Amino acid sequence: MVISLQFLLVVSLCVQLVCFLPTSTAKPATFLQDFHVTWSETHIKQLENGDAIQLLLDQSSGCGFASKNKYLYGRVSMKIKLIPGDSAGTVTAFYMSSEKTETRDELDFEFLGNRSGQPYTVQTNVFAGGKGDREQRVNLWFDPSAAFHTYSILWNRHHIVFSVDEVPIRVYKNNEAKGVPYPNTQPMGVYSTLWEADNWATRGGLEKIDWNKAPFYAYYKDFDMEGCTGATPATSNNWWDAPLYQQLGPAQARNYKWVRVNHMVYDYCTDKSRFPVPPKECFAGI
Ligand SMILES: *[C@@H]1O[C@H](CO)[C@@H](O)[C@H](O)[C@H]1NC(C)=O
Repeated sequence: MVISLQFLLVVSLCVQLVCFLPTSTAKPATFLQDFHVTWSETHIKQLENGDAIQLLLDQSSGCGFASKNKYLYGRVSMKIKLIPGDSAGTVTAFYMSSEKTETRDELDFEFLGNRSGQPYTVQTNVFAGGKGDREQRVNLWFDPSAAFHTYSILWNRHHIVFSVDEVPIRVYKNNEAKGVPYPNTQPMGVYSTLWEADNWATRGGLEKIDWNKAPFYAYYKDFDMEGCTGATPATSNNWWDAPLYQQLGPAQARNYKWVRVNHMVYDYCTDKSRFPVPPKECFAGI
């Protein structure tokens, strides 16, 4: 009896040591439970008692926010409604990043605006050990400014999956065994910014921002971050490590293929002018 109680105590201590879950269990969280403003308080407004926020971009400033915690594996997701109408030259970003050092890891979603009626582009990128240059671009198959859609990043020891409404648009597999760098030692925070980047964002910088259409607004809600806030990766017992999340299921794999065949407009792996010999991860498969 005594032994089994001790055993239980040890087990429960281990589980706690393995992964410190965020203190708030109510999901989704309010903005201020999980985040703080990092750039221009005056351009971020809380809505619906803090359950949602509005980001504003005008000629005086853009704005940004960051999570209070950093995570080593987990999943972050939020619902975003992007700038409607003429959003050319604007960039709305949602990303994870470790401390911004020379060897940082970073996982990016960047939403590149467009002229009215032209498709929004989502650019994703993966930095491992300070090296990025892994851009892929997908044109969204719906108008992301007409309604909220869910954007999420799942990150575990097996792979990193960027999803739009549960449809995987990018998978970066852990191919460390084949010499491909993989982010797995540095905790990452969650960030978002809205800014002007008309020197590159829309049609490679050809389409400029139209300040007559300012201010530009983007909306966020349903902040959901579940991850290990400790500095060492969890070894077990977290749902994002379960077999279901270690590789794409058959339906996810079909959706991912559908996106790549029908909606992908740029892949660094096939950009011969930048990479005459494509980087190793390009051959590693999904
Ligand atoms: C904007 O629209 C043009 C024309 O349809 C398209 O080629 C481009 O991929 C779209 N996205 C960006 C970011 O330029």
